[in-house]
Amino acid sequence: MQLIKSINSVKKQIRKAKKTGKSIGLVPTMGYFHEGHLSLIRKAVKECDVVVISIFVNPAQFGPGEDYLRYPRELSRDLHLAEEESVNIVFAPSAKSMYPNGYQAYVNVEKMSKVLCGISRPSHFRGVVSVVAKLFNIIEPDIAYFGGKDAQQAIIVDRMVKDLNMNVKLKVLPIIREKDGLAMSSRNTYLNKMDRKNAANLYKSLKGAKRLINSGTRDTNRIIHTMRKMIKSVPHAQIDYISVVDAKGLKPVKRLKGKILIALAVYFGKTRLIDNIIVRL
Ligand code: PAF
Repeated sequence: MQLIKSINSVKKQIRKAKKTGKSIGLVPTMGYFHEGHLSLIRKAVKECDVVVISIFVNPAQFGPGEDYLRYPRELSRDLHLAEEESVNIVFAPSAKSMYPNGYQAYVNVEKMSKVLCGISRPSHFRGVVSVVAKLFNIIEPDIAYFGGKDAQQAIIVDRMVKDLNMNVKLKVLPIIREKDGLAMSSRNTYLNKMDRKNAANLYKSLKGAKRLINSGTRDTNRIIHTMRKMIKSVPHAQIDYISVVDAKGLKPVKRLKGKILIALAVYFGKTRLIDNIIVRL
């Protein structure tokens, strides 16, 4: 496995592999791997000849006062895990090389970036899609792998790929959960013991929504009301949003029909957790 920090060097390696007809898989990450990342990496290793994992805590997707500086980083552990999974290249550029002095080009997926997480994180998705576009230009992957926990991110990246005619296939893999149902996230490490325990309630509320739907409920307000009650039943849980939207355009729906995304963001103290389920009716 190679650790490459320079953009030119990684481009050179990829060009070499492409010349021999090898397929390239990319798993874009911000590092601090957990089982969620590993599930993407394993799938990429199964499906592609050359697998590149990018590890880059992208400053452009953090707003003022957010956790850019304290976001967990542990490159040597990540490298060890990547090596164990037979990854070919870890691409870990510096912020300076990704955003040199004078940098000004950003990609914006307009409407979908302004809803759900985009309301409390107004510049987040502009930062995400810009860095993903850069990674796609640098690595030129045949397939890129994303986790289903960041459902809005995956839907927005898909829109960008379609709108900008990019030659990459996206694969979105299921959320990997802890035993008690909490969606795996690097940010879970911020939680104290009590909040960590109570955070399992988020998935319980989503399962509660699923139960209501299975028993015939189609009214969005009723689903949101029930979820809200469940989440608020534990201390410290501050709801940022609970939304029921169509899973393609992220537009709110009043009555459930088709492919629906039920998504939430909840703060425990300063830690903001997200989770979702997709239902098909
Ligand atoms: O999901 C993430 O870890 C990040 O948003 C991504 C896609 C690597 C872009 O920085």
